[in-house]
Amino acid sequence: MAIKKELLDKLSELRKFALKSGTTDEKIAARCGKGLMTARERINTLLDPDTFQEFGMHVGHDIRGFGFDKKTLPSDGVVTGLGYVDGRPVSVISQDFMVSGGSLGSRHAKKMAETMERARTLGTPIISINDSGGARIQEGVKSLAGYGQVFKNNVLSSGVVPQIALIAGPCAGGAAYSPALMDFCIQLRKNSNMFITGPEVIKAVTGEAASLDQFATADAHASVSGNVHFAAEDDAHAIQIIQKLLSFLPSNNLQQPPHRLSEELKIESDPGMNALVPEEGRTPLDVYQVIERLLDAGEWLEVQKDFAKNIVIGFGRVDGMVVGVVANQPKFKAGSLDIDASDKAASFILFCNAFNIPILTLTDVPGFMPGLAQERGGIIRHGAKLLYAYATCTVPLVTVILRKAYGGAYIAMGSKDLGGDVVFAWPTAEIAVMGAEGATKIIHKKEIDEASDKEAKYKELVEEYREKFANPYQAAETGAITDVIEPSETRFKVSLALRSLLTKRANFPSKKHGLSPL
Ligand code: HXC
Repeated sequence: MAIKKELLDKLSELRKFALKSGTTDEKIAARCGKGLMTARERINTLLDPDTFQEFGMHVGHDIRGFGFDKKTLPSDGVVTGLGYVDGRPVSVISQDFMVSGGSLGSRHAKKMAETMERARTLGTPIISINDSGGARIQEGVKSLAGYGQVFKNNVLSSGVVPQIALIAGPCAGGAAYSPALMDFCIQLRKNSNMFITGPEVIKAVTGEAASLDQFATADAHASVSGNVHFAAEDDAHAIQIIQKLLSFLPSNNLQQPPHRLSEELKIESDPGMNALVPEEGRTPLDVYQVIERLLDAGEWLEVQKDFAKNIVIGFGRVDGMVVGVVANQPKFKAGSLDIDASDKAASFILFCNAFNIPILTLTDVPGFMPGLAQERGGIIRHGAKLLYAYATCTVPLVTVILRKAYGGAYIAMGSKDLGGDVVFAWPTAEIAVMGAEGATKIIHKKEIDEASDKEAKYKELVEEYREKFANPYQAAETGAITDVIEPSETRFKVSLALRSLLTKRANFPSKKHGLSPL
């Protein structure tokens, strides 16, 4: 007694057909020649070996007419299922461009929606690889409805499980909104683009001549629009980024991030941090150097590194504890908070808070960015997002004020009054309503105007103001900060603070949901 051979042969044949996307070796070779992986290669490269469980390999299309009655679209153009990355389960979706351009039909959409639903039930991150010509034209409104189901599931999953999108081919029109609804977006530098309306439509409607390079590529999105968090050289690089990103994230909102706490406390000072601080107050301190000394070696993944460079965000570990870092970068626009920097930091903080990731803030900020474009562009509304994001946090908030901390921007950067649990300041910190020069001109205007030597008087009063306010002690005296620390003590003090805050519980008044400024 044994199963009939022809039944096994049929299964084997169907599997082979699906695994090769129903296409020829030549077409697969042509795709590889462009430096692109196939949909299944992407999944297999992402996952631990032999851990992929496919759901819906034999699903077919639902196209009526157009000569499709006898045509098969293997897996309906999308490979979905479950697997493991570094031993932890993930849900995966990989659109197959070799099957009708990866176009999204109703069953294709149903597979995507079911994968997301399963991810929420099991509590696994969702990795969605986008490589598609968009709504399947032959299925008409059914494919548009499919997108609706995909978007709805993106939203239902938001804040429940981490969602990571890879743009690995075309991603046009409404299709771009699924990645936009996810938490992180990675795009390939070559062979991919993402846009709502293409060059022809733009030309027809506005008369502007615009090339895809200007607005649809990974570099355009990573540096100008901010839609993309990471630009990748190729599929393999993009997958490495996804794996590294996952190494910092919990699988869902009910879990802690993968902290790797050492059993022993390491109380070691770092004299190199003292040496970093320039003697001259006007020389900017490169915040990357501070981040490097604070974090464990090799444990840093910067997010949106080419967008709004005046603020640096990313994931790292301090003595094994996962943190989201938010740091002003005085080397760029003096570290001021403008519209893009506020948006960038606010959405990162919301993500960290949703997924229980403590936030380490490094403050060196002269203020919100002045300017007509900023005021007209809505810096009030955008800056308010940053205030909202910090104030809504229930995760541990540890802040270190390195140097400048002026006005509303000081308050916005994880200050104690906004919810900061532990706020340290270096002796170089200047915590004040504004810088000495501006303040002196306002409060001593009359005195300076009446002086015989205006310049000398102004300088004298600036010095006087500096002496009084350009330090952390007034803030320390009022209890606005926790302590003044030597730069060399920063790493172990931050580590101790984080360790003791891991049990933090915070409650907010119950409500349907808050209304973050948009
Ligand atoms: C059905 C599609 C398709 C689509 C591509 N194909 N896009 N089939 N619906 N939307 C098929 C092609 O017919 C072809 O099938 C195969 O995929 C490969 O396409 P090619 O054109 O040969 O490939 P290439 O030259 O690389 O060009 C890729 C492309 C182009 C740039 C994506 O195909 C294209 O412009 N497609 C249409 C894009 C589009 O406008 N989509 C609708 C967007 S609006 P065969 O059988 O020959 O292999 C949208 C609305 C979403 O998506 C709304 C959400 C609410």
